Amino acid sequence: MVVPALFKLEPKESLEELYDFEKELEELRRGYEDGRIVAVLGLRRMGKSSLLRSFLNSFSIPHVYIDARRVAVATGRATTRGFMEEVGRALAEFMRREAPLRDKLAEALRRVRGVSVGLSPVTVTLSWGRERADLISLMEAVDEVVGRAGRRLALAIDEAQELRGIGVDIPRRLAYIYDNLHNVVVFVSGSQVGLLYDVLKLDSPQSPLYGRAVFEVKMRRLRREEAVDFLKRGFQQAGIHVSQRELEEAVDSLDGIIGWLTYFGWSRVVGAKSLEEILDAAARQEAEEISRFLAKSRSEARYRAILKAVAARPMRWSEIKRVLEAEEGAAVDDRNLTDLLHRLEKVGLLEKREGLYAIPDPVVRLAVERYISTAPA
Ligand SMILES: Nc1ncnc2c1ncn2[C@@H]1O[C@H](COP(=O)(O)OP(=O)(O)OP(=O)(O)O)[C@@H](O)[C@H]1O
Ligand SMILES: [Mg+2]
Repeated sequence: MVVPALFKLEPKESLEELYDFEKELEELRRGYEDGRIVAVLGLRRMGKSSLLRSFLNSFSIPHVYIDARRVAVATGRATTRGFMEEVGRALAEFMRREAPLRDKLAEALRRVRGVSVGLSPVTVTLSWGRERADLISLMEAVDEVVGRAGRRLALAIDEAQELRGIGVDIPRRLAYIYDNLHNVVVFVSGSQVGLLYDVLKLDSPQSPLYGRAVFEVKMRRLRREEAVDFLKRGFQQAGIHVSQRELEEAVDSLDGIIGWLTYFGWSRVVGAKSLEEILDAAARQEAEEISRFLAKSRSEARYRAILKAVAARPMRWSEIKRVLEAEEGAAVDDRNLTDLLHRLEKVGLLEKREGLYAIPDPVVRLAVERYISTAPA
C-alpha cells in the first residue's frame, strides 16, 4: 500500500507537498520581508506547522525551528532546561542545513558562555551549570553571522503557548530581539490562540512586547470544492477509486479542516472501510486529548457540562447558564460561567459567533457527544 504524499500524516515540509494556501504563503513572505514578529494562528490541524515549515524550507530561509511541544515531551513537563535542550537541538539542525555558514556559526556560538559546539556530527550543547547560555546571547551570535552574509534569520517557535510556565521570560526576550537584532524575524504559531497571546502578553500595557507590531497570518478551512479536490487528488495518486458521494459525505463531516481531510484520506488508503469508522477513531483520539485537558482543571464537572450542552447545539450564554443550573440544582455565578467560557475559547475548544457558543471542530464535537460524559470518569 503506497500512501500518497498528499495524505502523509506528518507536517508537510515543502511546497511540492503542500496543497493550496497560496495567499497564506504570500502573507508569510510579506511578514518575513517587512515584519519582525509574525504569528500563524489557527485551530489544531489546520496546517500551521506545514505552512511554516514548507515556507522556510522551500524558500531556503535560514531558520532556527523550535518545537515547543517537544519541550514538554523531553522532561514530562515544560521546564527551562527542556527549553534550552530544544534550543540546542534546533541550532544544531540549523547548522546542518546551512553548510556555507557552518564554520562561522560554530565560531560565533563557541564564543557564547556555556555553549559547546561539535562539528562531526554537528551538535550544540548548552551547559546547565553556573555558566548558562541564554536565548538572547545565542541569537545575538547567530544574528551577526547571518547579517554579515546579507540574510535574515527566521526564529520560529511552533506552538509557543506550550512555553507557558517554563520560567523563561519569553516576552522580554522577544522584545529584546525585536529592538536589537535587526536580522532576526520571529515566527510564532499557536493552536490555542488565546493562550499564545497570554504567553506573549501582547495586550498588557506592562508587557515588554506591548505595542510592537505583530503580523498575523490566519489559517482557514478549505472551501467545499477545494476539499473535494484535495481528496480526489490524493486518491488518484493512490490509485484508489472513491465515489463522489463518499467524498462529499466526508467533506461535509470534516468541515474543510485540512488535517482531518488528510486523516480521512490516509485511513481510507491504509484500509479503513467507511467514513463512520474513520470518524469514530478520530473522535476517540480527540476524547483522550480533551479528557487530559479536563483532568488538569479544577472546574472539570462544569467544563464537561458546558461542552456536552453546546455539542448538542450552539447556545447563548443564558441558555448555557440554565443548563448548568438545572444540572447542579443551584444558582451558577455569572462571573464564574463567563470565566469558564472564556477559558474554553482560549484553548480553542469553543468559539463564540454571533452570540452563540459552539464547538468549532466537528471531530471534537463528535468526541464530546460520544465519549465525554457529564460526570468525571
Ligand atoms: N497544505 C497542506 N497540504 C496537504 N496536507 C496538509 C496541508 N496542511 C496540513 N496538512 C496535513 O494536515 C495535518 C495537520 O497539519 P499540521 O500538522 O501542519 O497542522 P497544525 O495546524 O500544525 O496542527 P497541530 O495544531 O496539531 O500542530 C497533517 O497530516 C498534514 O500533513
Ligand atoms: Mg503543528
